[in-house]
Amino acid sequence: MVKPSEKIDVVFLHTAIHELKTPLLAMKLILEMVLDPKGESLTQTQRDNLIDVAKSAEQTLAMVGDILAMAKAQDDNRMRSREFVNVHELMETLRNELQTLTTQKHLTVVWEGDPMACAALLTHQESLRSIVQNLFTNAIKYNREGGTITLRVATVDGKTADIPPIFKAVKQALKKHASWCVVTVEDSGMGIPKEEQTKIFGRFFRASNIKTVDPYGTGLGLYLTKTLVEKLGGQIWFESPVRRSLGEGGEEGKGTAFSVALPYMKKT
Ligand SMILES: Nc1ncnc2c1ncn2[C@@H]1O[C@H](COP(=O)(O)OP(=O)(O)OP(=O)(O)O)[C@@H](O)[C@H]1O
Ligand SMILES: [Mg+2]
Repeated sequence: MVKPSEKIDVVFLHTAIHELKTPLLAMKLILEMVLDPKGESLTQTQRDNLIDVAKSAEQTLAMVGDILAMAKAQDDNRMRSREFVNVHELMETLRNELQTLTTQKHLTVVWEGDPMACAALLTHQESLRSIVQNLFTNAIKYNREGGTITLRVATVDGKTADIPPIFKAVKQALKKHASWCVVTVEDSGMGIPKEEQTKIFGRFFRASNIKTVDPYGTGLGLYLTKTLVEKLGGQIWFESPVRRSLGEGGEEGKGTAFSVALPYMKKT
């Protein structure tokens, strides 16, 4: 719980972040122009160094974005606004927006379950969008080339929900409501090492197995996601490796599924 004196001034942050974003974006654009494949004046070393600078600019941009999102999540007045959201539609929109990234990595994105399962979820739309976007981008980043992403939406009874044993507290919390909307994003990637699983929602935490695969993440995405889920009265958990990945055609030790449950009240 944040004390009033610790609250970040959102207006100040918006301004500061805008001031930071402008020169960073300019840097990124200039670097893209210099790195244009037609520009032959660069040596390979110069090119590699400039690619590193461009990636650092991108990472800093992502980090200021996460900081702004954290500040917004702490603004209780803002978080109180609710509207009915069709969860399947929202996820489809994100899937289209992320298509360039999934295509680059030759990933197949499939749907499972009833698309109409949470057709009218009363929630804070922008927060739900950030939650799904973070899980989806992780499922892309930490997947294998040519892998699969499975999207699922379902209504689940809190008393019978199937939760992995390390999330005992989540299981208890879900018993409070009969009806939850559960969104799952499952990948066929490298998985999360068992001994690091309890740290995964921590601030700036990045697991040891991904640092060579993607050295540029900030380790804030899941921390922000968990904060937003809890602000919406929900719970988050994961399974890695995914139990069914051990079955027919699956590879042992592979794949992660993140699930988010949000209280679901039917529209009357
Ligand atoms: N789907 C996944 N498969 C494997 N590991 C994952 C997955 N999602 C998250 N992780 C692990 O959890 C860590 C934290 O994830 P998080 O999204 O918070 O940060 P990040 O992806 O490293 O950076 P960013 O803040 O840019 O999202 C990751 O660095 C990775 O080690
Ligand atoms: Mg991430």
